[in-house]
Amino acid sequence: MTLPLNHLIETCQSRITRLFDFYLQKKSSQAQELQKAMYYSVSNGGKYLRPLLVYATGAIFDAPLENLDIPACAVELIHSYSLIHDDLPAMDNADLRRGKPACHKAFTEAMAILAGDALQPLAYEIIANHPSQLNTDQRLEMIYRLAYASGLDGMAAGQALDIIGVDSLSSLEKMYSLKTGALFTTSVKLGMIAAGIKEHPSLDEFAHYIGLAFQIQDDLLDFVSDPAISGKPTGLDAANKKVTYPSLLGIEKSQEKIQEFLSKALLTLELLGDKADLLRALTQSILLREK
Ligand code: IPE
Ligand code: IPE
Ligand code: MG
Ligand code: MG
Ligand code: MG
Repeated sequence: MTLPLNHLIETCQSRITRLFDFYLQKKSSQAQELQKAMYYSVSNGGKYLRPLLVYATGAIFDAPLENLDIPACAVELIHSYSLIHDDLPAMDNADLRRGKPACHKAFTEAMAILAGDALQPLAYEIIANHPSQLNTDQRLEMIYRLAYASGLDGMAAGQALDIIGVDSLSSLEKMYSLKTGALFTTSVKLGMIAAGIKEHPSLDEFAHYIGLAFQIQDDLLDFVSDPAISGKPTGLDAANKKVTYPSLLGIEKSQEKIQEFLSKALLTLELLGDKADLLRALTQSILLREK
């Protein structure tokens, strides 16, 4: 019997892969090399966690899968762009991503910058234009949410704080919630919009906690893991003199914090009943991940 979470993962992979293939493989573009760099970065073994959040949230409210494909694909495009730029020599200077050469290593730095540049508008093009039953208001709201979460009030701001450096636990958590939490919160929000749900404060709170837990876990993996397992360089945060949860509080306290935030996240789902089981399973899988 297929477990529900495995089933969700398979469904998500096959559905968004179809869209990536359509926009980045089947279509011919003027710039083949750019298109290759973009496709390489969305199809080389990511966990698709943000799309999974879109689908698992949509499932709570019985949103049609066709309405979830578009935001799931769009948030993954923005995430992929953020990773390409994050790995560049001017940022984290990481050569390895998902066990393969980072985009700027597989292509060139110039092509990696352009791939990131072009993945962003593709996300908005798909929300605005890809056929589905989403109405214009839903599409506009999705564009607004994703744009807000990616820019000066979200991921890019968090990345800027990460580069400038933080010096306290509270500024570290603020930075985490911007660079990572904003796209998590928005993934949940996009699943709600696709289902026609406007507000759900406990789901916002849920996403906030798993965003924090996820980034602490990421920093912990950088601290203790092995590139052969994590698929990215380890010890890089220390080499780049980054202040992280493990560097501030140590391994054990960081593990406790991950547990604490994930428990808080699960608590926010209590009133949602069985319908939130996929979201619960996804939350628990974050704790067990090795990459
Ligand atoms: C990595 O995110 C960047 C962070 C925000 C920590 P993921 O661990 O979700 O990356 P992929 O897409 O699965 O490789
Ligand atoms: C998250 O932080 C990066 C983004 C928001 C793109 P990291 O720099 O720690 O992510 P990894 O470890 O390179 O995936
Ligand atoms: Mg970084
Ligand atoms: Mg990095
Ligand atoms: Mg990291």
